[in-house]
Amino acid sequence: MELVLNSPLDMHLHLRDADMLKIVAPLSSYSFAGGIIMPNLVSPITSIETLVEYKQRVKDAIGDDNFEPLMTLFFKSDYTYDFLKEAKKYISAIKLYPFGITTNSKDGVSSMKIEDLRQTFEAMSELNIPLLVHGETNGFVMDREKEFGSVYEQFATSFPKLKIIMEHITTKHSVDLLDKYENLYATITLHHLLITLDDVAGGALNPHLFCKPIAKRPEDREALLSVALLVHPKVMFGSDSAPHPMSKKESCGCAAGVFTAPIALQALATLFEKHGVLENLQAFVSDNAKRIYNFTPIKKKVVLEKKLFTTPVLYKNIVPMFAGSELPWSIKNVR
Ligand code: DOR
Ligand code: ZN
Repeated sequence: MELVLNSPLDMHLHLRDADMLKIVAPLSSYSFAGGIIMPNLVSPITSIETLVEYKQRVKDAIGDDNFEPLMTLFFKSDYTYDFLKEAKKYISAIKLYPFGITTNSKDGVSSMKIEDLRQTFEAMSELNIPLLVHGETNGFVMDREKEFGSVYEQFATSFPKLKIIMEHITTKHSVDLLDKYENLYATITLHHLLITLDDVAGGALNPHLFCKPIAKRPEDREALLSVALLVHPKVMFGSDSAPHPMSKKESCGCAAGVFTAPIALQALATLFEKHGVLENLQAFVSDNAKRIYNFTPIKKKVVLEKKLFTTPVLYKNIVPMFAGSELPWSIKNVR
């Protein structure tokens, strides 16, 4: 049995920089036609110059693969209209991180008050630049995303022309917001469709499944599955594949992030097949993103086949999700 995916896209991807970039970029560029590249480098991407330089390093790491890196800027509340007008030529979106909420977010925003964000939001609205949001407060870890819901509602109502993408949603509450506000969209990761908090910390602690936002309750995962498997028109796949060296994962002070890029399509095919909706995977991994971002991706056919894939235990010094386990689907070829 085969499954052909046309131009699969990963709409939330961490490629990092330097040696790590060289390891992970080819793993995404092999099986995806493009991806939204996150700007949370150690020094976040806030200027056109650093963005262009980073894009070139990404391209160098990809080599000859047919893959379009869709670049993003790290949100700042004092971007001017003129700056963003120029930046729009190079970017697909801007990513907002609350201060200190996750990896490399110390330059994130410390006030979510509309008045403090208005300048950048107004310019983005006028220029039609999508806003990507890491939606968590600093509250109790299981409630952070739900608490951020009122912020999403304020953003959505105050800037009705702004396309707001709730990144890596993990709760039923966020799923419900999709139908309440026309300008709210969402990405969903592979790992949040598969795991709950029990898989992270219910038995022996699994640091490789520790991420932000933390995986939630079974009913939250059910809500995510319902919109992903039936491909709600406002959701799309974004892996949030977030590699860290093994030494930073298997340690006290474990870094947040699940590394899924090399197994994402194989695992998604497994999940969609298990639920009898394999034919819906195309829309989840490509068609919805094309429509939501209003762009035409590079043409690429990824052929998967029903053949066991044994996930490597390590990619250099990075442990992938499903390390050492078998998946029933593998990638046959890419054209
Ligand atoms: O688990 C996560 N890892 N969540 C994020 O939001 C950031 C990411 C990273 O960059 O490591
Ligand atoms: Zn992320």
